[in-house]
Amino acid sequence: MKVIDLNRKNIYLKMMCAKIMSVSTASLEKAASLIKSGELVAFPTETVYGLGADATKGLAVAKIFEAKGRPNFNPLITHVRSLEEAEQYGEFSKAAKMIAHQFWPGPLSIIVPLKRDCGISELVTAGLDTIALRVPSHKTAQAFLSKCECPIAAPSANRSGSLSPTSALHVNHSLGDKIEIVLADGASEIGLESTVLDMSGDKPFLLRSGAITADDVSEILGKDIELHDENNDAPKSPGQLLKHYAPDTPIRLNAVDVKSGEALLGFGSIKFMGVEGGGFARDLPDGFCINLSEEGDFTEAASNLFAMLYKLDEVGAKGIAVMEIPDIGLGVAINDRLRRAERR
Ligand code: TXA
Ligand code: MG
Repeated sequence: MKVIDLNRKNIYLKMMCAKIMSVSTASLEKAASLIKSGELVAFPTETVYGLGADATKGLAVAKIFEAKGRPNFNPLITHVRSLEEAEQYGEFSKAAKMIAHQFWPGPLSIIVPLKRDCGISELVTAGLDTIALRVPSHKTAQAFLSKCECPIAAPSANRSGSLSPTSALHVNHSLGDKIEIVLADGASEIGLESTVLDMSGDKPFLLRSGAITADDVSEILGKDIELHDENNDAPKSPGQLLKHYAPDTPIRLNAVDVKSGEALLGFGSIKFMGVEGGGFARDLPDGFCINLSEEGDFTEAASNLFAMLYKLDEVGAKGIAVMEIPDIGLGVAINDRLRRAERR
């Protein structure tokens, strides 16, 4: 009896726990191979532990939202090794470069205009035309980025709504059943998420406070920085809120048919989807009918969402009819974004 119980316990532990791997050549190689095959890896940084995925692979990035159970698609920070690498993905003004030279590598994320066709998944930037970039100083984070040879999108490695993790054990406690390995390297030195500085417009804004303060930034730029802290409860003016991408073409949700002049964003089988006045959606003109996921797979749908909305926005349709997407799992975040786009 005891033997059976022990086996059960082992199976249970295996199911619930990621493998905490202390940093070594072997663990870094394992981590990089998981990233290259589109999986998630938790890794240490000087701020908090991050839940990383290859930022160029939409399906991998979708798994981040799935694992965290995030009810929305807020944009993620892309981690790279150097300013030089960051410049492959973002346009750095003279001022943004000054800031990067001063504070990178370190606990600062800089938002700059996104470079077109740079390969970053639209899910990372949530369809915005800006990107948040960070060069972490943590030795293991740097080694991990080098081995992966790709930009890494990473929010904090905790389930949505719980505390940001500052140790591998925290990560395991929160996400152990969702990821294969946690690269472990002690406690995060800073223990607070990076400062987020928006340098994408004419005026710099501090969107999130962190170890690098508004005063630190002001000193380098020689002017005051406005604070638009998302964690601050003070009332916000519309300009302070995170901008959300929405197509210009009106969106109609939970469509059961396609109205005249509309394009269709499908989910699952569109075999029986009709067009008002006769005919089938599948016979719509080229480009007017695309499917988030024919199999009704949420991860695939999430990874396609922004890119497909962009496409449909450009075909000259009167509206975009969106089929019903169940409000479960990643469907919650997909619907959140679609509802914002509908209200716009
Ligand atoms: O310390 C950190 O920053 C950690 C470690 C892992 O690097 N990461 C982290 O990521 O805290 P996350 O996803 O929890 O926070 C990203 C923040 C959010 O507040 C998001 O709204 C903002 O950055 N952000 C990202 N891209 C943005 C953009 N293009 N425009 C405005 N805000 C953006
Ligand atoms: Mg977080």
